[in-house]
Amino acid sequence: MTAQIKNLLLDTRLPRLEVRMLLEHVLGKPRAWLLAHDTDPLAPEVATAYEALAQRRLAGEPMAYLLGQREFMGHVFRVTPDVLIPRPDTEVLVETALECVAGQSAPAVLDLGTGSGAIAISIALARRDARVMASDVSAAALAVAAGNAWALTASVRFVEGSWYGAVPAGEGFDLIVSNPPYVASDDPHLGRGDVRFEPRGALTDGADGLEDLRRIVAGAPGHLKAGAALWMEHGWDQAEAVRGLLAAAGFADVHSRRDLAGIERVSGGRWPGRG
Ligand SMILES: C[S@@+](CC[C@H](N)C(=O)[O-])C[C@H]1O[C@@H](n2cnc3c(N)ncnc32)[C@H](O)[C@@H]1O
Repeated sequence: MTAQIKNLLLDTRLPRLEVRMLLEHVLGKPRAWLLAHDTDPLAPEVATAYEALAQRRLAGEPMAYLLGQREFMGHVFRVTPDVLIPRPDTEVLVETALECVAGQSAPAVLDLGTGSGAIAISIALARRDARVMASDVSAAALAVAAGNAWALTASVRFVEGSWYGAVPAGEGFDLIVSNPPYVASDDPHLGRGDVRFEPRGALTDGADGLEDLRRIVAGAPGHLKAGAALWMEHGWDQAEAVRGLLAAAGFADVHSRRDLAGIERVSGGRWPGRG
């Protein structure tokens, strides 16, 4: 008997949702089409393409890399193994950023370590008047981010280099945001699950997990206008340490905000300027 599309939908090696998403991807068709055509004959090349993806998934590769995309703040971002897969947790950083610049016209915003561009592009799309700059040390990541900005029609200026070294001299910002690598280099989680497939340089600072956060706090005053804000994402247990870094550097109104799970996920403060 000829195999039908529904034979693949019955693949029990993977969760049903993943089977459906992989099949939609190889067929290039949405869910409604799949349901209406489940008794169509299964083309051998579709079965082969599906099996190749299923094998990669069974080996642990993240769905976002297999599908080549991930949704963030309601926008679809292309992702490749050159970039971190945007996390829902990071949406609290974008929401905080948008609150910070609410009421300011044409705010200048800097996103340090932009990866896929998820944060910078989401801000630029929500605030079309903003002047958004985004940096990364990885040229490959910046190529993905620039492609996303183009596809989503966001206006973002991308610059390459390490932290503030990428920022042209004399640029002053109303807001700096960053989701830097903050996992300690000896954290066993780096060897488990999806993160095994993500760029190591996007996950860990190669030190205690606070090294890049320290650099970002230390360099911020030279790039913030008086009264401007710095907000950073960090690990579940780093909020107190990051608030300490901000307070020691002279930031005012230092506080943290929680994600949907109730974890202090981002910390920030306002730069009072040198008086
Ligand atoms: C945790 S990922 C965040 C990516 C993206 N902003 C997001 O939230 O999905 C950290 C990013 O920082 C970049 N990065 C690492 N070291 C850097 C450095 N010294 N200067 C600039 N960016 C750096 C990595 O390439 C990576 O894209």
